[in-house]
Amino acid sequence: MTDVLAFPASLLAIGAATAQFRSALPVADLPRGALRRVSFGDLDVLLAHTDRGLVAVDDRCPHMSAPLSLGALEGCVVGCPLHSGRFDLATGDPVQMPTTGGLWPDGRYEPVWTPPGREPKPDPPGIKAEARRLTRVRRVRYYPVRVTDGTIEVAVPG
Ligand code: FES
Repeated sequence: MTDVLAFPASLLAIGAATAQFRSALPVADLPRGALRRVSFGDLDVLLAHTDRGLVAVDDRCPHMSAPLSLGALEGCVVGCPLHSGRFDLATGDPVQMPTTGGLWPDGRYEPVWTPPGREPKPDPPGIKAEARRLTRVRRVRYYPVRVTDGTIEVAVPG
């Protein structure tokens, strides 16, 4: 029996509460520690087999939308391949901010990452730096997932 990870109900993706379950892939194709993208029309979903069970979320980093399916899964934390942000799939929260800095979900500012032992990098001037500084990292959004007759199913709208 494959466990399914419980997730915060407040982080359910829009439309997922009333969506039908749809076939995603055989559970045997997603061993523990694996990440896989499954697309339903233009909706890309990340299936992750964490150490606490299966979970389905948007395959878009809550920072700048990079595909988390190309990242790395450690336990229950997925790392983004683009700016090294890390997100806890049990809570939906960022646990490490992207190297670009920006705003935490609650609005706190995080500066650009600086290697240990170096002087903090000043934010460069310009509209791109301003956009980066004001980009708020969101929480992960979830889709209900279940296993039926050896197949992973996900409730996605549409
Ligand atoms: S897009 Fe994922 S950390 Fe920036």
